[in-house]
Amino acid sequence: MSDHSGAGSAGAPPPGCPAHASAVPLGGLQYQQTPSELYRALRREHGAVAPVLLDDDVPAWLVLGYPEVCYVTSHDELFARDSRRWNQWPNIPETWPLLPFVGYQPSVLFTEGAEHQRRAGVITQALEGVDQFELARECQAIAEQLITLFAGSGEAELMSTYAHALPARAVLWMCGMPQGSEDTEQLVDDLRISLDAGEGDDPVAAYMRVGARLTQLVKEKRESPGPDVTSRMLLDAAALTDEEVVQDLISVIAAAQQPTANWICNTLRLLLTDERFAVNVSGGRVSVGDALNEVLWLDTPTQNFIGRWAVRDTQLGGRHIREGDCLVLGLAAANTDPQIWPESHVGAENSAHLSFSNGEHRCPYPAPLLADVMARTAVETLMERLPDLVLAVETAELTWRPSIWMRGLSTLPVRFTPSVH
Ligand code: HEM
Repeated sequence: MSDHSGAGSAGAPPPGCPAHASAVPLGGLQYQQTPSELYRALRREHGAVAPVLLDDDVPAWLVLGYPEVCYVTSHDELFARDSRRWNQWPNIPETWPLLPFVGYQPSVLFTEGAEHQRRAGVITQALEGVDQFELARECQAIAEQLITLFAGSGEAELMSTYAHALPARAVLWMCGMPQGSEDTEQLVDDLRISLDAGEGDDPVAAYMRVGARLTQLVKEKRESPGPDVTSRMLLDAAALTDEEVVQDLISVIAAAQQPTANWICNTLRLLLTDERFAVNVSGGRVSVGDALNEVLWLDTPTQNFIGRWAVRDTQLGGRHIREGDCLVLGLAAANTDPQIWPESHVGAENSAHLSFSNGEHRCPYPAPLLADVMARTAVETLMERLPDLVLAVETAELTWRPSIWMRGLSTLPVRFTPSVH
C-alpha cells in the first residue's frame, strides 16, 4: 500500500501508558446493535476521551465529547491529518485491516496546511459548480431506473439494489462518466467491490481497475473538458497534476458513496419503523427532511472517523496525549453527548451535529448539500413510486453491519404492491 515510515515518529507506543491498561477494545456485537449504550458506558467510565484498542490491540484514543471533537478538529496545529506521524507504525502488521483507511496516500485526505488548502480548495470549487437541480433530476432518473428493475416483483432488498446503487451512479455522473454506459456500470461494480467487498470478491484488483479507469477519465477530460467535477478540477488555477486529480477524485468518490448510501438506508429504516414517520409522512406533518436530519443526529453514517495524529505532547479531556498518538473522532458519540442534551432528548430541530465533522478537514462545504440532494431524492422517489412500501421482516430482525466506522444495515428487505410502470 503506502509509505508508513514515521514522518514524526515519537518512539515508544502507549502500552506503558497507564490509561491504556484499562483500554476498551473497539468492536464486538454491541457496536452492531446499540453503540449509543456503549458510548454512554465508555463516557461514564473514562470521560470525554477514552483509551481504546483498535484491531490487533493497537492503542488509540476515542474522542467522545462534543466540545472535545470540536477542539481536536479545529486545532490542526496540535492534531494533524498525516498518518505518517503515528507512533504505532512499528507495531502495525502488513495485513492490518484498517490499513486502507489509515495508510498514507498522497491525496487531499492526508495533506496538511497550505497543501491541504490548495487541494481542498480545488475540490470545493469543482463541487460548487454542480447544479443542484440538475443533480436532483439525474438522481430521480437513476432512482426510476433502479426501481423499475424490482418494482414488478413486489419485494426487494434495498441496500444492494437501491441505497448503494444510486449514489455510486450519481457521483460518477457528477464526475463526468456517461450515465448508463457499460463502462460506467463496470466502474460502479468495481467501486462496490473495492469499498465493500463481498465473499469471493477481490478488492485489491477492483481498486486497481478503479484507479486505471479514473486515470483514463482524467486523460479524456484533459483533452476534452466538459461541465463536470473532473474537468473543473483539471482547469483550476491551482494546476494540479493528473496524478493529484486522480488521487483526489478517488477520495471524493469514496467519501461520497458509502456515507450517502448509509444515510439513505438509515433514513428509510427510520421512516419504515418509527410510528411518527410511518403514520405521518404521507400526511405531511413529519417530513422526509425531518427524518434525514434525525438520522444525522442519532444514526449518523460515519459514526467514528480515523483520524487525527498528535503533533506534540498535549492534554485533551484530562488525558495526557503523546506525540504521534492516534485519535479517533467519535462523531456519533459527540452528537449524543449528554453535555449538549442534558434532558437526554436528542432533537432534530437544528443541524449542529458533527456528522460532517468540523474544521479544516471537514466534509468540504458543498458536499453535504449534494449528499442531501441525493439522499432526499432517493427516499422521496422510492416513497412516491411504491407508496405502500413496508418492511418484509420484523424491525428486530434488521441487523446493523459489524463495523465501528460506518453505521448502516446489512440488508433492508421490503414488500410492496407490484407495479409494472
Ligand atoms: C456528495 C457527497 C459527499 C462528498 C463529495 C464528500 C466529500 C468529502 C471529502 C472530499 C472529504 C475529505 C475532506 C478533507 O480531508 O479535506 C470528506 C470528508 C468527510 N465527509 Fe464527506 N462527502 C460526501 C458526503 C458525506 C456524507 C453523507 C457524510 C456523513 C453524513 C460525510 C461525512 C464526512 C466526514 C465525517 C469526513 C471527515 C472529515 C474529517 O477528516 O474531519 N460526507 N467528504
